[in-house]
Amino acid sequence: MGKLLVLALVGILAALLGERLVAFRHRIAASRELKVKRLPNCHLIKGIETGAEDIDILPNGLAFISTGLKYHGLQSFAPDKSGKILLMDLNEENPRPIELRISRGFDLASFNPHGISLYIDKDDTIYLFVVNHPQIKTTVELFKFVEDDNSLMHLKTIKHELLESVNDIVAVGPDSFYATNDNYFIEETLRTLETFLGLTWTNVVYYSPKEVKEMAGGFYSVNGINISPDGKYIYVADLMHHSIHVFKKHANLTLSPLKVLQLDTLIDNISVDPYTGDIWLGCHPNGMKLISYDPENPPGSEVLRIQDILSEKPTVTQVYVDDGSLIQGSSSAAVYNGHLLIGTVFHRALHCSLDSSSGKGQSNVS
Ligand SMILES: *[C@@H]1O[C@H](CO)[C@@H](O)[C@H](O)[C@H]1NC(C)=O
Ligand SMILES: *[C@@H]1O[C@H](CO)[C@@H](O)[C@H](O)[C@H]1NC(C)=O
Repeated sequence: MGKLLVLALVGILAALLGERLVAFRHRIAASRELKVKRLPNCHLIKGIETGAEDIDILPNGLAFISTGLKYHGLQSFAPDKSGKILLMDLNEENPRPIELRISRGFDLASFNPHGISLYIDKDDTIYLFVVNHPQIKTTVELFKFVEDDNSLMHLKTIKHELLESVNDIVAVGPDSFYATNDNYFIEETLRTLETFLGLTWTNVVYYSPKEVKEMAGGFYSVNGINISPDGKYIYVADLMHHSIHVFKKHANLTLSPLKVLQLDTLIDNISVDPYTGDIWLGCHPNGMKLISYDPENPPGSEVLRIQDILSEKPTVTQVYVDDGSLIQGSSSAAVYNGHLLIGTVFHRALHCSLDSSSGKGQSNVS
C-alpha cells in the first residue's frame, strides 16, 4: 500500500526531527491553563456515569444521548458494559434519562455507540442514526424511534469501505448522511503514529444507498459534523487543528470549502440550535490529559458558542469551563429552550439552565 510506504518514510524523518514533537504538543493542546467558568444553575444528571459522548435534541425537546463509549485507548469506567441510548424529555420539570429499549435481533452486547444524529422525515417519522463500534470496527446503525413505548426499532446496519473509522454523522435524509472519519488507520499503533506525525488523511464522506463518496479531505482528525438549520451549510470540527470548517452544501450534495474558524481548543462535537442557528461546541481544552487519563489530574471541559459563523466577525463565547473537578472531558453541548446539556466522552453529564445573558434568543428559561 502506497500510503504505508509514505508513512514509513515520514516516520524515519520524524524520528530525526524533534520538531514533530513540538508540533504534536501544540496540536494536542498539552499546556493550556484553565480558568474555571461555571454557570449558576447546573446539576449533574443522575444515571449518567459512563459518558454522554453525543447528544442530539429534537425540536420538541426530546434529547437523545449516547453513553458507554469504548474507544481506542480512551478511558472507560465500565469497559465490560455495552453502550446505550438514553432519552430525556427536557419539557419535564425534573428531566431524567431513561434507557431506550432496542428491538429484538439487534446485537446489544457489542453495542458501542459514538456519534448520533436524528432525522425527521416528511411524514414525521423519526430516524436515529448511530455510529457503532462493535469490536473496533465501524458500522452505522439506523433506527426508527417509536415514541409510544420509548423504543428503537432497528432498521439496518450500514457498512462501507469508505466508512471505516467513523466518529460522527449528520443525517440529511431517511437513509443518507455525511460522516467524518477521524483516522485513516484502524490499527492502534498506526493510528498513534498518524496522530503523532500530524498526517492529514482524514475525510468527510457522503453516504446514500445509491452513492458513497468522499466529499472533503485533508484534515488532521475530523470529529463533530453538523448542518445549519436551513440545510445549506455543513460544519466540520478538525479536533487536532483546533478549527471549524464551514462548507457550502450544493444541490448535487458536493461540499465546497467556505471558511475556517480557528479556535484555541480541541473541538469534539458540534450542535446547532435549530432556532437561532448558533453553534454549540463541546471541547477538550487539554487533549493530553484526555488521552493519558489520570483521576488525580483529570481533563477539563469547555463549552463554546459561536454566533453568526458566516459573518466576517463571528462571536465566540466561552460559556462554560471546568477544570475536571465537576465534569471531565466534555464532548458535546446541546441546547433546547434555555436548557444546556453538556456531555462527556466517558464521565458524567451536566444539565444547566441558561440565563438570558448566555442564551440569546432563549428567554423561556424554566
Ligand atoms: C454531535 O454531532 C451529531 C452529528 O452531527 C449531532 O447529531 C449531535 O447533535 C451533536 N451533539 C452535540 C451535543 O454536539
Ligand atoms: C456540484 O454543484 C456545484 C455547484 O453548482 C458545481 O460547482 C460542481 O461542479 C458540481 N459537482 C458535480 C460533481 O456535479
